[in-house]
Amino acid sequence: MRATVVGGGVIGLACAWELLRRGAQVTVHDPDPGRSAGLVAAGMLAPTAEANYGEEALRALMLESMRRWPAFAAELEAASGMRVGYRTEGSLLVALTDDDHAEVLRLVDYYRRAGTPIEPLTGRQLRELEPMLSPRVRGGAFAPGDHQVDPRLVLRALRSLPIRFESTSIDDLSTVRDDVTIVANGVGAARLTGLPVRPVKGQLLRLRGAEPLVRHVIRGVALGRHVYLVPRADGELVVGATEEERGADTTVTAGGVLDLLRPAADLLPGVVELTLAETLAGLRPGTPDNAPLLGPLPVPHRVDHAVVVPDKPGHSGSVVAPQPHDQRDGGRGRRVLVATGHYRNGVLLAPVTARVIADLATTGATDVDVAAFAATRFT
Ligand code: GLY
Repeated sequence: MRATVVGGGVIGLACAWELLRRGAQVTVHDPDPGRSAGLVAAGMLAPTAEANYGEEALRALMLESMRRWPAFAAELEAASGMRVGYRTEGSLLVALTDDDHAEVLRLVDYYRRAGTPIEPLTGRQLRELEPMLSPRVRGGAFAPGDHQVDPRLVLRALRSLPIRFESTSIDDLSTVRDDVTIVANGVGAARLTGLPVRPVKGQLLRLRGAEPLVRHVIRGVALGRHVYLVPRADGELVVGATEEERGADTTVTAGGVLDLLRPAADLLPGVVELTLAETLAGLRPGTPDNAPLLGPLPVPHRVDHAVVVPDKPGHSGSVVAPQPHDQRDGGRGRRVLVATGHYRNGVLLAPVTARVIADLATTGATDVDVAAFAATRFT
């Protein structure tokens, strides 16, 4: 099988690597890998803290991918000879005021009902775990199942693998001659396929100190403002992230920086002593229901050389009928699969996405339940 992957970010490269491991010849196209959303991402693997009320199918997919992360990280490190910074200390939910605490306790209740491990903690218990937290911190919780990885290290490791890379852009899917095309170019998928993928801007800061201020990932709320703090072993502290519906705008604003630094300093006063090393903005690929698009490109979006029959509810896979002029591949037809719309969870969902896409590309079906994520659901 010959496969073209459009997009050389975390999702595209994870799919490419899995296809390579299954014996496919893979070419990844990305004219500008420096714009990958993964380079801006903090790398929280957070099936607890990123779970939202009412998103049960997505939560199940996040948990499924989380289960795959330890093996994914170990195999990527073995294949590349590079570290990816996978850490398992767990995350702390931290609230500054009584009102903030009430919000966290409501979340704790939701997580408990969903069967997610979560342990409420007092302010004092939080400071025993993380002595640099503000004495004003009211309380919070420990989420042992939320881990972290360094997405820049993941990208570096994936890019070192023997995957063929081309810096040409693909602007028209009908020009691709390979057996299968994977559309994994984040927000760029909207223009390429017409699917409803919108950019959701996130501003993020990288602070630097001589040594880490905290060990755990902190998900904080201070006077109603949300922030996360992700410590790296080398003293870097990633502070994120704004969430802005402003189209494809990647400017960093003073207001965005303030919105992050204010709650960060309220919860962890030592951040003001750190160097502000980098300010960034990235574009999360969001969909109308903020869940990913995984599977065959739906019929109204088909390229003119292949007919892709969409999934029926409860079924994965595709049926492909070649057009008469499509003889180059012996009449087997060509398929287009979509892997985008991962919104706030691209890094977390990379292992399960790679598995699903490689399954669909090689066998036409997958045993992962992705019925809720069919790319046909908005057509
Ligand atoms: N997953 C965190 C973010 O999207 O900001």
